[in-house]
Amino acid sequence: MLAQLDELYAESLEKLKTAASTATLETWYKETLGRKGAVYLMTRQVGQLTPTERPIFGQQINKIKDELETAYQARLTAVKTTELDAQIAASAVDVTLPGRRPVRGGLHVITQTMREIYRIFGDMGFQVYRSPDVETDAYNFEMLNFPPHHPARDMQDSFYTTHPDVILRTHTSAGQIRAMRAYHPEPVRVILPGMCYRNEQITTRSSIQFTQVEGLAVGTNITFADLKGTLTEFARRLFGANRETRFRASYFPFTEPSAEMDVTCFLCEGEGCQVCKYTGWLEILGSGMVHPVVLRNGGYDPEQYTGFAFGLGPERITMLKYGINDIRLFWDNDLRFLQQF
Ligand code: DAH
Repeated sequence: MLAQLDELYAESLEKLKTAASTATLETWYKETLGRKGAVYLMTRQVGQLTPTERPIFGQQINKIKDELETAYQARLTAVKTTELDAQIAASAVDVTLPGRRPVRGGLHVITQTMREIYRIFGDMGFQVYRSPDVETDAYNFEMLNFPPHHPARDMQDSFYTTHPDVILRTHTSAGQIRAMRAYHPEPVRVILPGMCYRNEQITTRSSIQFTQVEGLAVGTNITFADLKGTLTEFARRLFGANRETRFRASYFPFTEPSAEMDVTCFLCEGEGCQVCKYTGWLEILGSGMVHPVVLRNGGYDPEQYTGFAFGLGPERITMLKYGINDIRLFWDNDLRFLQQF
């Protein structure tokens, strides 16, 4: 009987040594020292022993029980440590790895173009004047000499609001009246940048928003020569010192006379290419002398004051500069496009 006990002890110790996880240790414990484990089953055999054998057997069984218990605890601690080490190793932070750079934002390419435009006009004494995106029909059209049913409104298919006279501005020209009223009776020399909203089906293929930079100069003795000089200087600073400009007669309700300005194509230097459609010229902006009606609506007496105005599209300038062929890319918010600039 005692020999059996020794055998159980030896066997159990051996098994314990090979148990390599807390789960197998748990099973081992159940089978060995548990309530129905091997050691317990041995104690039940005491009845078969003689009275003299019993205390010796009892002592021996208690001894191996204690020893197994101690061995189990030691093994459990060791296995737990190994498991923890493995877990730490698996999910370790490798402090020697190079750091991950935070993603840096950048300026939208249109913002970059706008800032370049501000800088050039800033050098020529123009201040940036901000006016609202949400406008009234009066500022956007009527005071700019577009009467309610004027056909020129057809070119600016507008976004209306639930309020009968409130629209999203279709052009930055709406700010002209606001600027004049703010500066009167001082001379005005401002640029008005910002987003414009209109439904464009033909020229820009379903785009509904784009930016403009408007310019306005009002004062005494301002002539068409000032308009040409200022805008030609602008074109040369933006597109290169040997740019030539030409002015073609045009029509806008708020200017008289009106003109569109072209610059010699900076891609082919006027030779003729796909971008300038083999004309050698690129249309850059609309302009003109401020209409007397508009001057009066701004508070200036047209007998005493004159002025010029212009409006240009940063998207168009950016498209020409980088060879971008779809205006919708600018406001689609596709990072693959935006990150290139
Ligand atoms: N507002 C015009 C447009 O959106 C652009 C423009 C043309 C503005 C001539 C001007 C100007 O100030 O003089 O098409």
